[in-house]
Amino acid sequence: MLRSHNCGELTSRNLGETVKICGWVHSIRDHGGVTFFDLRDRYGITQVVCSPADVDKKLFEEIKLLRNEWVVAIEGTVAKRPPETVNPKLSTGEIEIQIKKIRVLNKSLPLPFEISEADKTNEMLKLKYRYLDIRSSRLKHNLCKRALFSHKIREFLTSEKFVDIETPVLTRSTPEGARDFIVPSRMNPGRFYALPQSPQLFKQLLMIGGMDRYFQIAKCFRDEDLRADRQPEFTQIDIEMSFVEEDDVISVTERMLQYAIKETFGIEVKTPFPRISYDTAISKYGSDTPDMRFPVEYKDFSGTFRKTEIKILNSILEKGGIIKGFSVAEGERISLKDIENLDRMVREAGGGGLGWIRFKGNEVQSPFKKFITPEIASELKPENKSENCIIIFLGGKIKQVNENLNLIKKTVMEKLFQPQPGTFIFTWVTDFPLFEYNEEERRLQAVHHPFTSPKEADIPKFKTDPAGMKSRAYDIVLNGIEIGGGSIRINVREIQEEVFKTIGISRDIFLERFGFLLEALEYGAPPHGGIALGLDRLIMLLTGEESIRNTIAFPKTQKGTCPLTDAPGYIEERLLRENKIKIDIDRTG
Ligand code: AMO
Repeated sequence: MLRSHNCGELTSRNLGETVKICGWVHSIRDHGGVTFFDLRDRYGITQVVCSPADVDKKLFEEIKLLRNEWVVAIEGTVAKRPPETVNPKLSTGEIEIQIKKIRVLNKSLPLPFEISEADKTNEMLKLKYRYLDIRSSRLKHNLCKRALFSHKIREFLTSEKFVDIETPVLTRSTPEGARDFIVPSRMNPGRFYALPQSPQLFKQLLMIGGMDRYFQIAKCFRDEDLRADRQPEFTQIDIEMSFVEEDDVISVTERMLQYAIKETFGIEVKTPFPRISYDTAISKYGSDTPDMRFPVEYKDFSGTFRKTEIKILNSILEKGGIIKGFSVAEGERISLKDIENLDRMVREAGGGGLGWIRFKGNEVQSPFKKFITPEIASELKPENKSENCIIIFLGGKIKQVNENLNLIKKTVMEKLFQPQPGTFIFTWVTDFPLFEYNEEERRLQAVHHPFTSPKEADIPKFKTDPAGMKSRAYDIVLNGIEIGGGSIRINVREIQEEVFKTIGISRDIFLERFGFLLEALEYGAPPHGGIALGLDRLIMLLTGEESIRNTIAFPKTQKGTCPLTDAPGYIEERLLRENKIKIDIDRTG
């Protein structure tokens, strides 16, 4: 037996015991000839002490050779630390081990970065040596929390009669709005599998197969531009249920999150989560992922400014634009310097600049001061009649105004409110449009995916006003980030065909790609619906991380590469030949 205990479990209850522990040498110190070193493993850190008075010369010399990150096994006696060296931050902080024997299990080269300095180290270097970064407490903590959270999700769903079913990874395209990753099929030359963007179609087929309640913690693959909250391969908590309506899926999701968050992070979240319609979210918060930690509502000031003589604003309105903004109480907390910075931010984002009016009692400060009559002022001031506020507004085309308002609102709110870590505000966004217009391709496309059911009352609009149709989809947002989405699905062939036609997929193509689904819908498909939650994003938010890379053991860079394994790599000519693939690029270039 190499060890009797781990590095995180010895306390004063073990005083006097002879123990064996293993781990990495974390740090070595010499205090007046006595050598101390910390031994680290996944569970914690234990201090080891070696005094020349207590050990033989050979052991003392061996210990002097130790270097950081060597792997050692030691044997010794648990002793009380002198009171002045007790470390209350460590579970093992009251004890130390007086060493009797040591065995070096492996040596280590000097590290490319210090484990204790991982937070300050360049990310590319850390990704290249990810196994060293994983030795840091932060990543270890995140990976352990992720594992526990997944376990609690499984526990909850299994107790609610959901069945964990694996679906294929080598499959056909499952459209979720990204490009597919493809895999050639050697046995079917010229044909390719697609890696699943989600298990969407299989989970629907499982409902048609009568499984009633399915879940899977599923790997999904999407070839899309990467951001802090996107990876080319990521994990979904994927759920599907039969004989349900929106409220059933929403309720299971809320209870599941409440349970897993409490069990993993000890945080109570209150259910039910508030719901807001898509239209309200856009008009009040300018976004379908509103951050309800800062429920600052936007107001359309177009009508008020139309009554003024402010030329620049009137010309925006005449061109069909909008003037929209928000107010912040205690207006003096936003200084002129802040306004200058916000103005620059808007201009850099392609907007036309920022307007502001500060009210302080009866006093008005603003570049537009001379136009702000008492009547205009009373229309602009928020309803709660704050006598001391600032109104910030932007003019232009509605989409751009909303985007730029979101940009500056985030900066203003972060300055003024500094959200407490550990504040988690969930919101459902419901009643999405079924279709949206894709300007580039000049066609309608599904807002979610094409298997989302329209609202029953809107079905006649396929022929007359498809863009005005609403869907039975719902998204779940946490602190302004979309963490999941789902819907009640189409379970009638004719409606599914209508959707394909409306988004411009010809009959031949949809029969070729989705014929199996259309056929299955005709063999007694029950009403069904579900949801998928982004596990990486959830863990990112719940651990207070800024990127999902810090929640994944081996993530990819922004360019989709892995600096550790150097994936994606070139493949041998033989494999290309076997798969009948010719590469048409100059590898030297
Ligand atoms: P959707 O496409 O909304 O829905 O995906 C569900 C959730 O998965 C997460 N997610 C991602 N996380 C990391 N990197 C990515 N590239 C990435 N893309 C998506 C998000 C998102 O909310 N089949 C439907 C679900 C359903 O209708 O049941 C689907 O996949 O948190």
